[in-house]
Amino acid sequence: MKVDILTLFPEMFKGVFESSILKRAQEVGAFQYRLIDFRDYTTDKHNKVDDYPYGGGAGMVLKPQPIFDAVEEVVSKEEHKPRVILLCPQGEPFTQQKAEELAKEEHLIMICGHYEGYDERIREHLVTDEVSIGDYVLTGGELGAMVITDSVIRLQPEVLGNDQSATHDSFSTRLLEHPHYTRPNDFRGMKVPDILTSGHHQKIEEWRTYQSLKRTYQRRPDLIKVDHLSEKELKMLEE
Ligand code: ADE
Repeated sequence: MKVDILTLFPEMFKGVFESSILKRAQEVGAFQYRLIDFRDYTTDKHNKVDDYPYGGGAGMVLKPQPIFDAVEEVVSKEEHKPRVILLCPQGEPFTQQKAEELAKEEHLIMICGHYEGYDERIREHLVTDEVSIGDYVLTGGELGAMVITDSVIRLQPEVLGNDQSATHDSFSTRLLEHPHYTRPNDFRGMKVPDILTSGHHQKIEEWRTYQSLKRTYQRRPDLIKVDHLSEKELKMLEE
C-alpha cells in the first residue's frame, strides 16, 4: 500500500514510520510512503499556507490552493483514484472496521492540518473521507495520520508474521482480548491461573472466551450486542 501524507511537519513521522512493524512492512514491500510538505506548493512570495477567515473571528484557515495543487499532482500520476482522507476532530470516528475498509485500498492520501481549520472547499471538493481518531482536539492531524497508517498497514497480509494475530485482535472479533501470561509461572508470588498450565486445550479455550466476554462486559458494554449472545454466555455474565 502507498500512503502519501500532506503535512507542514514531515519531521514528525520518522520515528514511527522507520521503526518496528512499519519498518518491516517497507522491507517486505507492503508499505511505501511519501511526506509532502504542502508549503512547497504555495504560489505567493511569503509561502503562506493559511489566511484570515472571511467573516472575521479568531484563528487562521488553511488556504485551498496549496492543498489542491499538492493532491492534484499526486493524483495526476495515478491510474486509480486514491481515497483522500482529511484528519479533523469533526470527522467520522476511526474504528477497526474503518481500518479494515481502508486496508483494502492500494493508495491513500492523508491531509494533516494545523491552525484553526480547513477552507470548506477542501472538504467539499477534494476529500473522500473525513476521519477523527477520537473525541479530543489535537494540535494537528499528524498523530491521526500515524494512527491510521499503523492500523491499516498491520492488516496487510504480508506484514504480521503470524497471520492469525490480526484476526484474533480485540475489535476484529468485537470483543476485548482475554488476559495473557508468559513465564515465569510464579512471579513474586503472583501466579498464572492453573487452567493455562493444565494442558487441557478445550478448557483453556472456554476460559479465554469467558474472560473476553467478561472483560468486554465490564469495560466496554457498548461493544456487546446482548441479542447476539447465547443463553450460556448470558448466564456466564450474570454469575
Ligand atoms: N486534528 C485535531 N484533532 C484531531 C482528531 N481528534 N482526530 C483527527 N485529526 C485531528
